[in-house]
Amino acid sequence: MIKVLIIGASGQLGQSFQYWAPHFPGYKFLFKDLPEFDLMDQMAVSAYFMETSINIVINCAAYTAVDLAEKEQDLAKKVNTDAVALLCDLSKKHQFKLVHFSTDYVFDGTANAPYREDHPVNPIGVYGKTKAAAEAIIQAAAIDSWIIRTSWLFSPYGKNFVKTIFSLLQNKEKIDVVSDQTGSPTYAMDLAEATLKAIDQNPEFTGVHRYHFSNSGETSWYGLAVEIKKLNHSSCRVNPLTTADYPTAAARPKYTVLSGEKIKKEFNLTPRSWESALEACLKKIK
Ligand SMILES: NC(=O)c1ccc[n+]([C@@H]2O[C@H](COP(=O)([O-])OP(=O)(O)OC[C@H]3O[C@@H](n4cnc5c(N)ncnc54)[C@H](OP(=O)(O)O)[C@@H]3O)[C@@H](O)[C@H]2O)c1
Repeated sequence: MIKVLIIGASGQLGQSFQYWAPHFPGYKFLFKDLPEFDLMDQMAVSAYFMETSINIVINCAAYTAVDLAEKEQDLAKKVNTDAVALLCDLSKKHQFKLVHFSTDYVFDGTANAPYREDHPVNPIGVYGKTKAAAEAIIQAAAIDSWIIRTSWLFSPYGKNFVKTIFSLLQNKEKIDVVSDQTGSPTYAMDLAEATLKAIDQNPEFTGVHRYHFSNSGETSWYGLAVEIKKLNHSSCRVNPLTTADYPTAAARPKYTVLSGEKIKKEFNLTPRSWESALEACLKKIK
C-alpha cells in the first residue's frame, strides 16, 4: 500500500485532503501538523523519516499570512523555504516523492494573459519570494516532485476571504472591496481532489514537474464578494475600491490568472468554474 504523509494537515488545504482521503482506499494516509509536527524542528522531522517509511509527502504546510510576512520575514522563510530544503534532503535520503504547493504570488502580475508554468517568476512580496525560493530549491534538488501552483484559495476551513466576506455581509450595511486585482478563486476541496486523482493516475512519477491548478474563470476580489452577496441574498452594499485606496503591508500582483492547460492535458482534469465551486463551498459553510 502506498503511504502518503500530509504535512500542514490542519490548514484549509490539509483539511480538504483529510476529507478526500477515505475516497482513495489504495493509500494509507498519515496526517501531521503543528504543534506535534513542526517542520522547523529539523532534528524531529529527520527522526520521523528515519522511523517511518513514506512513499509520497504532500506538503500543505506554509506560512500564508501575506501581509505579516513583510514583518516576520525570518519565520516566513523558515517555513516556506528552509523547511522545503529539508524535505528535499530527506527525499534524497529516504526516497519519497514530494508534492509541494506554491502560489500565483510568485508572479509579478504584469502579464495580460494566463500564466503558464514556464513563465519566469518575479515575486513582489516576501511571501511570494519565500515560495519562489522553495520552488528553485526543489528544481535544483531534482527530486521526484510536483510543484502545484494555485491561487486565491477558499474553503469551509480555517481563515480565508470567502469566510471573511460571508460573515461581514451578515454584520455590515456596506463593505469596500478591491476591484483592480484579477485572479482565479480556487476551492481547496477541488484542488485536494484533483491532486489525489493525479497521484492515482501516476503514483510512480519521476523528475520535477510544475503544474497550475485553479478553478476556471477569473474575477477580482470585488467580483468574488459580489458573487458571495448574490448567493446569500444579502442586502449589504458592496463597493469597489482601488488597490491605491486600500494600502496593505505587502504589494499584491495585479493579474495572476494561471493557465491550467498542462494539468488538463496530462491528467484530463478539468476544474469547474469558480462560481460553481463557490456555491458548493457556501453550502458547506452555512
Ligand atoms: N491561502 C491561499 O490563498 C493560497 C493561495 C495560493 C497558494 N497557496 C498555497 O497553498 C498551500 C496551502 O495553503 P492553505 O491556505 O491551506 O494554508 P493554511 O490554511 O495557512 O495552512 C497551512 C498549515 O501549515 C501549518 N504550518 C505552519 N507552520 C508550520 C510548521 N512550521 N510546521 C508544520 N506545519 C506548519 C499551519 O499551522 P498553523 O495554522 O498552526 O500556523 C497550517 O495548519 C500553501 O503552500 C500556500 O502557500 C495558498
